[in-house]
This record gives sequence, C-alpha cells and structure tokens, in this order.
Amino acid sequence: METNLQWRLVSRPQDEVGREHFEVRRVPRPVPGPGEVLVRNLYLLIPPSMRLWMNEKETYFPPQPLGEVMMGITLGVVEASHDPALSPGDYVNGMGGCQQWFVAPAAHLHKLAPRDGVPLAAYRSVLDVQGLTAYCGLTEIGRPRAGETLVVTAAAGSVGSLVCQIGSKLGLKVVGIAGGAEKCAWLRQVCGIGRVIDYKAEDVGARLDALCPEGIDIAYENVGGPVMDLVLERLRERARVVLCGLVASYNGAKGAPVAQRTEALMQVVNKAARIEGFLVRDYMHRHAEVVGILQDWVADGSLHYQIEVLDGLDNMVEAISRVFHGRNRGVQLVKISDGAAA
Ligand SMILES: NC(=O)c1ccc[n+]([C@@H]2O[C@H](COP(=O)([O-])OP(=O)(O)OC[C@H]3O[C@@H](n4cnc5c(N)ncnc54)[C@H](OP(=O)(O)O)[C@@H]3O)[C@@H](O)[C@H]2O)c1
Repeated sequence: METNLQWRLVSRPQDEVGREHFEVRRVPRPVPGPGEVLVRNLYLLIPPSMRLWMNEKETYFPPQPLGEVMMGITLGVVEASHDPALSPGDYVNGMGGCQQWFVAPAAHLHKLAPRDGVPLAAYRSVLDVQGLTAYCGLTEIGRPRAGETLVVTAAAGSVGSLVCQIGSKLGLKVVGIAGGAEKCAWLRQVCGIGRVIDYKAEDVGARLDALCPEGIDIAYENVGGPVMDLVLERLRERARVVLCGLVASYNGAKGAPVAQRTEALMQVVNKAARIEGFLVRDYMHRHAEVVGILQDWVADGSLHYQIEVLDGLDNMVEAISRVFHGRNRGVQLVKISDGAAA
C-alpha cells in the first residue's frame, strides 16, 4: 500500500522552530472522493509567516491546530481526478500541507499553465504569492510616481528583490537594504539596483542620508525593528509606508523584544505620512493579470529572482531556520517529490 509521509505540529515553538515541534508519521495515502482530486506535492514554500501560523494567536489564518498536518503552501501534480476541471498530469497550487499527498476538491486548487523555459518552481514563488505581494503592495499602497525615492528592506529576499526591480521599472529611485556583501552584490550586479545598503556592515542612517538626501517617499517594509526606525525618521511629507511584514519579530522575543521607537513613529505624524498594512489575499482578483506581467518580464530577462531548493521534508526545519537567519538566497522551497505525473 502506498503511504503518505506527514509532518504534524505537536507543540508550539516559543522562538526557533525545531525538529522536536513535529511528529513525522506514515499514514495510508488518501483516496479521492466524488469531485475530489489526488495531488502529489512537489514543492513546499517556506514563507516567513509559516512561523506565525504555529503560534496560538490567530493571524490572518486561524492558528495551526496541534496534532494535525502542518499547513503548507504547495505546488503539486494531479495523480487522479474525480472532477473534469483537472486531469492527471496537471500542475496545481494549493494548501497541500507538509506532506507527500493530499486530496482536495478541484475548486480549492489553482491550475497552472507553465510556460516553456520558466522553471516550475517559479510558479510556487515569484509567479504567485511573492510576485503579487511585491507588485500590488508597491503599486496599490505605495502609489508610486516616477522620480520618487523608494526604500525596501529585506531587499534581496523573494518579495523585496521584486519590489526593488518593479520600482526601477516604474522610474523610482530605489534603495535596497539587505544583510551581507553577497546579497548586496547580487542586487547590484544581477538586479541592477545601484543604491544598496548592507545593514550588517554599514551605518544605515548615514547611508540613507547620503542616498536619499531629500527623504523617502515610499518605504516598503518587510522587517521592522531598528532599521525600520531609521527609515521612518527620513520619511518625506505625505510618504507612504507599505507594511508588508515584520519578519524580525516572528521568531519570538528571546530576551529582547523587537520594538519601534516612538520618536521614529512621530515622523509619520510630522510628515502626515501613511502606514498601511498589506495582505496579499485582498489582491487575488489581480492574480492572473499580475502574474502575466511578471511572467513576460521573467521571459524577456528583465526580472531576476533566486530560488533555493532543499531536498526532502527532512530539511523543512533547516529551511525555516535559513529564512530567519538570512541564510536563504531568495525564495526558500523544499522539494517533496520529483516532477512529472507518476
Ligand atoms: N502581507 C502579505 O500578504 C505578505 C505576503 C508575502 C510575504 N510577506 C512578508 O514579506 C516579507 C518578506 O518575505 P519573503 O517571503 O520575501 O522572505 P525573504 O525576504 O525571502 O526572507 C526573509 C529575509 O528577511 C530577513 N530577516 C529574517 N529575519 C530577520 C531578522 N530577525 N532581522 C532582520 N532581518 C531578518 C533576511 O534577509 P537579510 O539577510 O537581508 O537580513 C531574510 O533572508 C516578510 O515580512 C513576510 O512576512 C507578506
């Protein structure tokens, strides 16, 4: 009998996620009922927010129940279908969980139409949630006008690097803030972002003053904490802060809670600026349109991204750790199984 390897969350991490928070079980492979589809997971996305789902407190998702398969954003291949909308061999995105197989109604899955020459993994990353987040966060909340100054944190990350490049395409003066020489070099040399700050090695305030002498019109914030304060302090009149995430806070306090200084926040008042939270699920109606635009840019070589794939669910904890220690190079995926339909 075919089995299904599952990772279940059995206790809630207080800070770092460890192997001890999961139980790994082999159960019988699920059988699809009427209207359902059997999917074999190929890739699991490791977004920073996965860490928040493990907490007891509700986020934009209900908390992950203990003892159940860990929620996971996956790309898979249909192996059996009881719905004419999907056929064996179709690639689908869905909430397939941290496991090898799952069944779901066809209506809960998003059928992919991968283009020749674009890696399949890109459809579980830049040509999906991250791309939509970057594009819609910047254009709808940032409301950019050519010539304005945009500062992006976690700028070499999967969302951040797209925001930087889309900003450049829109004629913005882009400043990216990232951790480490290698990430900064990638932004400069591959993504064409000339103004880059290595927050681990440079005086961020002084560099922002040098690179944004007239202040900041749009801040695309992915991290929070002290670097965000330095950005807020340099906001211009009527600036827009796209609050996309606060990744520095997700892993728990561990002695030193991540906080914002009130003096820095006061600049939002002083400059009548606006901070607005962004949630990608509010923009799913634009998915096809935005992914189409991004796909064209990927195909013509004008939009760059990195995808890092670790092999096997056994590497899931390591993949999560990489994202929270800046050891990921772009989108972090875990490969659950290989390519085409079995
Ligand atoms: N609101 C939404 O709908 C939505 C959707 C998708 C993503 N997001 C948010 O977008 C942000 C970026 O997500 P992503 O998937 O693109 O991840 P990512 O940027 O590819 O990876 C996370 C990066 O954040 C930085 N980082 C991690 N822990 C940090 C810490 N303690 N202090 C400072 N920097 C830290 C690291 O970059 P460095 O090495 O440069 O420090 C790391 O590589 C996250 O805040 C995420 O929650 C929001």
